[in-house]
Amino acid sequence: MDDHERGIVSPGADLEERDLEGALRPRLLADFVGQDRVREQLSLVLNGARNRGRAPDHILMSGGPGLGKTTLAMIVAAELGAPLRITSGPAIERSGDLAAVLSTLQEGEVLFLDEIHRMARPAEEMLYVAMEDFRVDVMVGKGPGATAIPLDIAPFTLVGATTRAGLLPAPLRDRFGFTAHMDFYAAADLELIVRRSARLLGVELEDDAAAEVARRSRGTPRIANRLLRRVRDYAEVRGDGRLDLRVARAALALYEVDERGLDRLDRAVLDALLRRFRGGPVGLSTLAVSVGEEPETVEVVAEPFLVRAGLIARTPRGRVATPEAWEHMGVEPPPGPTP
Ligand SMILES: Nc1ncnc2c1ncn2[C@@H]1O[C@H](COP(=O)(O)OP(=O)(O)OP(=O)(O)O)[C@@H](O)[C@H]1O
Ligand SMILES: [Mg+2]
Repeated sequence: MDDHERGIVSPGADLEERDLEGALRPRLLADFVGQDRVREQLSLVLNGARNRGRAPDHILMSGGPGLGKTTLAMIVAAELGAPLRITSGPAIERSGDLAAVLSTLQEGEVLFLDEIHRMARPAEEMLYVAMEDFRVDVMVGKGPGATAIPLDIAPFTLVGATTRAGLLPAPLRDRFGFTAHMDFYAAADLELIVRRSARLLGVELEDDAAAEVARRSRGTPRIANRLLRRVRDYAEVRGDGRLDLRVARAALALYEVDERGLDRLDRAVLDALLRRFRGGPVGLSTLAVSVGEEPETVEVVAEPFLVRAGLIARTPRGRVATPEAWEHMGVEPPPGPTP
């Protein structure tokens, strides 16, 4: 994740957090909460393959950060009882990097290629052939004398993950037999996820506290687990370790995460939009300047969530506040028709 995506409700994670997350990952499909459609589709794909005794089709996981793509990729390997190899787009700078991975795969192995949209272009061509014909053309020599030597590789299953499916070239996208579209989670599912995480962390979490954490987690399991950890810290330091509604609310207030999961930046943006620009329309960069942030930060971090939450609408003339925004912020709209 990019640097500007830090902060308590950002969907991205740094290395340290990814480490912590390992312990909370569901290992099997049955433990994976929510995304019912994806789970059902995937279970059919995997059962079909198991019944035929063949490696399943290549699978693409598409969806925003923290929604469970890596988790599902690992589940695919576990459900198949297959070995798992992990690499990522940025690690494949030249086609040789990919050839080295592909040519050493075992039969039936699951190759997880994270951030597949960031792979080098020449490697993409090689991947097409490998996915379709289980073959790599290894280039020997340089310049005019170079020759391609075809090398058969073991049938494998590619699991690609991307937060930017739109950036994938069509020929690559078309070579996946199944695409799992991961969506934001319903609050009820997030509630199950935090309760499960609390059990794994060995903390006592009351039901209404779980619901409170879930509601403020922006539809994202990663954020839910992160808020749970902050609430746990608070309970251990300031309380007796028990996680009830009062403790959850106090902890989340301390971290400036409001009832709908908005953080300080989100609220600053909304506040400027409402008070300074009377609800808009206003351009995003003007809005960013007025809260003292880089336009990119507002565009990538704050705005998408505010739009999805129904607090800001995009119009051709700029961003406008919705009636819900006035209500949520407790600001009286100016008289007359709202834009
Ligand atoms: N359906 C789920 N049930 C329970 N926990 C989940 C679920 N989905 C995700 N999580 C938890 O959320 C955290 C983040 O999930 P994961 O790493 O799979 O996200 P991702 O989509 O790969 O994100 P990124 O794009 O940043 O790599 C993990 O700790 C994982 O255990
Ligand atoms: Mg991931």
